[in-house]
Formats: sequence, structure tokens, C-alpha cells
Amino acid sequence: PRDGISLPHLEEALQTGEVKVVLLVSNFSNPLGSCMDDAKKKRLVDLLNRYNRPLIEDDVYGEIYFAGHRPKAIKAFDSENRVLYCASVSKTLSPGLRVGWCAGGRYHPDIARMKSILNQNTAMAPQLTVAAFLANGGYDRHLRHLRRAYCDQMLRMQQAVRAYFPAETCMTRPTGGHVLWLEMPEGFDSIRLYQEALGQGVAIAPGVMFSASGQGYGNCFRLNTAVPWSDTVDAAMQTLGKLAKKQLAENFLREE
Ligand SMILES: Cc1ncc(COP(=O)(O)O)c(C=O)c1O
Repeated sequence: PRDGISLPHLEEALQTGEVKVVLLVSNFSNPLGSCMDDAKKKRLVDLLNRYNRPLIEDDVYGEIYFAGHRPKAIKAFDSENRVLYCASVSKTLSPGLRVGWCAGGRYHPDIARMKSILNQNTAMAPQLTVAAFLANGGYDRHLRHLRRAYCDQMLRMQQAVRAYFPAETCMTRPTGGHVLWLEMPEGFDSIRLYQEALGQGVAIAPGVMFSASGQGYGNCFRLNTAVPWSDTVDAAMQTLGKLAKKQLAENFLREE
């Protein structure tokens, strides 16, 4: 979960010949928050070159690093121009702006043609607004603030998990982004937790939402750490912790 996709497993899948394209989030993925290091990004490009497959890189979280410098995009290692790089301001400014971009490499002319068929015009005003914000330095200033705020919120959320959740809880330690992934013991039902928590006004994303088969990760769930810390968030974390403990205790009694 720390450094993203397993390359040996990806190679096994590529060997079947059934994979037409690879799509992944390179930096601070959703829901695991994993980030591939440069060496792995380069190995991934080498692998795709060998199997002659394109990669769609979604780098929507890349700017939200907590320390050091911005992680590189896989596109930076794209020696054969096969990476379709995509990003947007949805996670840094507002998803409602609907402003994003794509550097499509060798596929760029096809993407442009397809876009002109599907959606000829994109609203100008939001694009000009973002362009002005970028040009006058406002975006950089905003990002510096955002990184500090998201890092702080992530740490507080992790502290709350340690304080309120069952001792058996495992969680990720993302170095950027705004999602925290939690794993409970086998047999835990995160859909039940989701339903019970929703009844008390608290929303989580149950693990099954992220399972390609629709069956996996039943004992896991994702928390969104983008919400500014407050007494309400603290109370919500206490509610989740209590519900999780109650469920684990019931499971334990049932097994006895
Ligand atoms: C992995 C990932 N990519 C992209 C987006 C945002 O997409 P868009 O830029 O179309 O708003 C999200 C947000 O939900 C996301 O989690």
C-alpha cells in the first residue's frame, strides 16, 4: 500500500495479453494514499515499453505532498511517449470548476479529435479564472497553505484513530493527499459500519466501493481527511470508534 501497484502482478496480467491499457493514480492514490518512488515509476515505464501498452496517469493529488518536494509524474520517465498524463484542479481548488488538462503523448491528436466530437467547447470563464490565479502566483500560495492544512488534518485524524478506534485497527501513513485507509480484523463488516454511522450523520467510504469484483475489502474503509478539524469531526471520529468497537465485540461473542 505504500508505493503503489505491484509490478510483478502487473507483468503477470500483461503476459495474458488481455490488458489493453493501464490506468493508475501515481501519487497519493485514492484510497490507499500510496506514492510510487522514481525508480519504480521508471521500471513501470520500462515494463509498458516492453509490452507496448499505454498508461493513463491520473496525477490529481500530486501537488498535495506534506514534506520535501513534489513527487515526479510517471510522464517524466516516458521515453516512448506512451503516457497519457491527466490532472485537474478538482482536489486543489474546486471540483466544481471542472478545469483539468491532459498531455496525451502519442495519443494526443486522437484525444483532441475525440473531445471535439464528444464535447466541442469547454466553458471559458472557469479556465480563464484558473489561468489568472496561476499567472499571479495565487495558486502557489494557496497550495502552500493547503499542504500544511492537509498534513495537519491527516495527523489529527490518525491521532483520533489511535485514541478512539479498536486496538486492532491498522491504518495507512500517507505522505500526501487526503485519504486514510483503515483495515479491521477479518470478518468486520464495513458496510454495516457505513449504515450505522450514516444513521448518526457520519459518512465513510466502505472498502467494497474500491473492489473491482465488488466483493473485496469488506473489512476496510476510507476516511476523507480533507475536512478541517473541529469538535464536530472529533465527535464523528468518536462515533465511528464506538460503532467499530461494538461490532468487533459482537463478532467476538458470536465466535465464542
Ligand atoms: C483518483 C481521482 N481522480 C480524479 C478525481 C477528480 O476528477 P475530476 O478532475 O474529473 O474532477 C478524483 C476525485 O474524486 C479522484 O479521486
